[in-house]
Amino acid sequence: MAPHDAILGWDEDSNAEAYEAFTRAHPMYDATSRDLARRAHLRDASLVIDLCGGAGATARTILEALPAPARVVSVDNAAAMQRVGRRTLTDHRLSWITAPAERLADHVPAGSADAVVCNSAIWKTHTAAVFAAVAHILRPGGRFVFNIGGGFAGVRHPDEQSVRTRPSLKTLIRQIAVRDYGYTPPTASESPPKLPLDTVTRQLSEAGLTVVATEITAQHSTMAEKKAWLSIPVFAQPEGNFTHAQRMRILDAAYALVNADAPSVTSWLVVVAQRPRTTA
Ligand SMILES: C[S@@+](CC[C@H](N)C(=O)[O-])C[C@H]1O[C@@H](n2cnc3c(N)ncnc32)[C@H](O)[C@@H]1O
Repeated sequence: MAPHDAILGWDEDSNAEAYEAFTRAHPMYDATSRDLARRAHLRDASLVIDLCGGAGATARTILEALPAPARVVSVDNAAAMQRVGRRTLTDHRLSWITAPAERLADHVPAGSADAVVCNSAIWKTHTAAVFAAVAHILRPGGRFVFNIGGGFAGVRHPDEQSVRTRPSLKTLIRQIAVRDYGYTPPTASESPPKLPLDTVTRQLSEAGLTVVATEITAQHSTMAEKKAWLSIPVFAQPEGNFTHAQRMRILDAAYALVNADAPSVTSWLVVVAQRPRTTA
């Protein structure tokens, strides 16, 4: 087995640059961010928190949806992501806080936020602590909107099911890694869904937040976009003891077996929660 040398995390510059470039070149993060911003009802908002905001793809779409005097605070614990965001997204209404989502309440006054939006990240956090912090800083009636990747929530949209007649790039990557590198993939029972809806609902309720809507959505893209996404170091596959160069070689071999324009569908579980307007 090759040495482990290049599993880059969020707080590394080359990963942050690759991630930000992807968000500009491909619609995926804009599309999911726009969906969340729409559900957050931002028209009359004056303060919105972009939680786990990374390099600012979500803040960009929130800013488009907000009235002119409103402010966005982007909170993320990866300074490298925010360095790229500060350089590439300059808007006087946007400020950046480098902090874990779990410590949100240390940085934002209680009851001050009209909405908290968290795109493509919540399952990476300690959700019970994050939900409590969000409940603390939201105003009564304020919305908390986030999405969970289908695999992490244990859901699959019917559209994803329908393209499953052919193997996905991830499946092909695994097969090639097994064949060429002796890779042993985890079995399904070793990786149950990390954040199913019943856990989310219970934890939100314990934090004093009410679920007002949930929906399983499908995001349609192509194998070409999926390949670009799987080239971002933090998302490169397979997990385990591979160098980034090896992962990219496996990805190239997998991509050679698919049609670049073939559809790829990603499922999301979208959750809209709210701080009740009146407290008992
Ligand atoms: C896939 S990116 C999403 C960024 C942004 N929301 C977007 O749509 O482009 C995930 C982000 O979550 C951040 N993150 C993960 N765990 C975190 C935590 N516990 N506290 C704060 N940020 C976290 C990472 O640093 C990374 O920037």
